[in-house]
Amino acid sequence: MFSPAAATPLGTLTGIGVGPGDPDLITVKALAALQRATVVAYPRGRPGQAGWAEQILGDRIAPHQRRLPLDFPFVTDPAQLQRAWQQAAAQVWTLLAQGQDVVFACEGDLSFYGTFTYLAEALERAHPEVVIHRIPGVCSPMAAVSALGIPLTKQGEKLAVLPALYSLADLEQTLTWAEVVVLLKVGSVYAQVWPVLKKHQLLHRSWVVVRASQPNQEIYRDLDRFPQLDLPYFSLMVIRSA
Ligand SMILES: C[S@@+](CC[C@H](N)C(=O)[O-])C[C@H]1O[C@@H](n2cnc3c(N)ncnc32)[C@H](O)[C@@H]1O
Repeated sequence: MFSPAAATPLGTLTGIGVGPGDPDLITVKALAALQRATVVAYPRGRPGQAGWAEQILGDRIAPHQRRLPLDFPFVTDPAQLQRAWQQAAAQVWTLLAQGQDVVFACEGDLSFYGTFTYLAEALERAHPEVVIHRIPGVCSPMAAVSALGIPLTKQGEKLAVLPALYSLADLEQTLTWAEVVVLLKVGSVYAQVWPVLKKHQLLHRSWVVVRASQPNQEIYRDLDRFPQLDLPYFSLMVIRSA
């Protein structure tokens, strides 16, 4: 008599933050999840380059683990982004439906402007039964202030994070209420931000950290000396008005 095989139990997706660059800045919990996974996914790097999360993990991805680079294009077109997220979700779902456990590695923390969120949202929309776990990581502002030897916030200070500066008015407005401002992706706007800092006499209270926690980390302080800086993508600015 034919008896249908029991349905394969679904695999789980676990998002892990792998930290800002120093491989030792991964949590014990994230490492354990990584070691248990059948499949290790991460955002694909630019052509010819390993993705940053993949580089941070290095040989912690074991030879027996399947690598799954996923495409998260560096574009702003919402339709193109949606298509990429849906495609990444479909790739992951195929493996979860086969009962394979997938870990998705995200640079820094996965919930702090991380690509993991878009993958998780697309999966939950298409397959509400999906089981997702999240393991946090050290995010870049934390690594940057540690490198600078300053606190990020203290006492009643208000913190603002501007993920990308779409207008200088945003920065001016934010400086009216936040004692601490972190500018991500500062490389593309540094030359426009500098005069604003000068106007508010904040050049000596602002710092740029490039590739925080990585061996080639760079720090720029006393920014009155640097009206122009050619900064890579992994750069951020901390402004402390107090
Ligand atoms: C899309 S956000 C991702 C943030 C990341 N998930 C985190 O937890 O830090 C990318 C921006 O974060 C900042 N960033 C990430 N890692 C960095 C690092 N190691 N050093 C300096 N800035 C970094 C840069 O401003 C970069 O443009």
